[in-house]
Amino acid sequence: MGIPEFLVKTKEKIKRSEANKFKSKFACSSVCFSLLRQTKGRIRSFCMCDTQFLNDDESTKNLARKVADHYSARTNQTLEEREASPIIHLKKLNNWIKSVLIQLYARRTDFVLDLACGKGGDLIKWDKAKVGYYVGIDIAEGSIEDCRTRYNGDADHHQRRKKFTFPARLICGDCFEVRLDKVLEDDAPFDICSCQFAMHYSWSTEARARRALANVSALLRPGGIFIGTMPDANVIIKKLREVEGLAFGNSVYWIRFDEEYSQKKFKASSPFGIKYKFHLEDAVDCPEWVVPFHVFKSLAEEYDLELVFVKNSHEFVDEYLKKPEFAELMQRLGALGDGNQDLSTLSEDEWEVAYLYLAFVLRKRGQPDGNRRSNNNKGNKGQTQISKEDIMYISSKV
Ligand SMILES: C[S@@+](CC[C@H](N)C(=O)[O-])C[C@H]1O[C@@H](n2cnc3c(N)ncnc32)[C@H](O)[C@@H]1O
Repeated sequence: MGIPEFLVKTKEKIKRSEANKFKSKFACSSVCFSLLRQTKGRIRSFCMCDTQFLNDDESTKNLARKVADHYSARTNQTLEEREASPIIHLKKLNNWIKSVLIQLYARRTDFVLDLACGKGGDLIKWDKAKVGYYVGIDIAEGSIEDCRTRYNGDADHHQRRKKFTFPARLICGDCFEVRLDKVLEDDAPFDICSCQFAMHYSWSTEARARRALANVSALLRPGGIFIGTMPDANVIIKKLREVEGLAFGNSVYWIRFDEEYSQKKFKASSPFGIKYKFHLEDAVDCPEWVVPFHVFKSLAEEYDLELVFVKNSHEFVDEYLKKPEFAELMQRLGALGDGNQDLSTLSEDEWEVAYLYLAFVLRKRGQPDGNRRSNNNKGNKGQTQISKEDIMYISSKV
């Protein structure tokens, strides 16, 4: 299956512009942990926060809440509603990108940590990879509940499917604020960590960005893999500089920066907290933050996470669509039609949205332990049927 002509043309636009010349400077910050309370019964509730950053920020927390409320309020769609979405092909394309990442890096029996797991949209992908154990965390209560019903196979709008083969555990909390190494002490180390379309929500402050990476690093085994997708700052800033005002977009999305960025200049010394409002039809409507990738890369290195690759989504599609197994998967998912009767394909506007994102892979430094732990000892951890009471709620409020 060839790439549609417009895809080929747009691919040529992928030139890393000089537009973004952020340089990073970091102040070192350590983080402390406080376990404030534990409630009785099976609903466990903890409070874990970075206390030296508390003064910074009611507003940061309010924004994190705003993001959580936005996602929580998004109800599960029926199959018909999903197919009628103006960005259905983009959703399928994004699912293909995530599937490829998972197929490339997940191994049979792996322990998976899914940060910002949402409604569990990747559960089937992990199942196909035959992973051994899954922990999903998300800040949005509604999404975790949807993830639970999907895992249990109760989501009536989904095709009836056999149960997932791996045990799982679900946690509701802010994974960019809370120290997860304590919460997941008994589950770690993980072989693979995934953070899909969410890492940028950690970039509101340096403390949160550091907490996100510290969590990933602390929970991955040496040699473990961190896969993810997030907005491509180079593309966003380039687009911002190409328009006259502070907003740009097309029929399915818009991005708007505040007046404080009217000069369209960004201080190298402040690569965090560069906020914009993002609207994507039928998907997103909340504040997001620019993540200058070279800052992300150097910060990740501080936490022993080394870059394996980063690719803009266009480049990613171009490269992996050449591989027959992934071309076949694309056909099955139908992002570009099915190659037969279904001639529908993603629109130019959806393809432009894909260009706003990148995919990355990082590896935790160190040699994998030859004596890999037996997975059997996790049998009593996750469950294969998760009740509401099994969900752990972690609070970052004081
Ligand atoms: C675009 S959705 C992606 C969901 C899922 N990863 C996927 O690919 O289907 C972004 C998710 O990030 C979650 N999120 C945002 N900020 C978070 C935080 N601080 N901690 C945990 N989850 C967060 C949202 O609740 C939402 O479910």
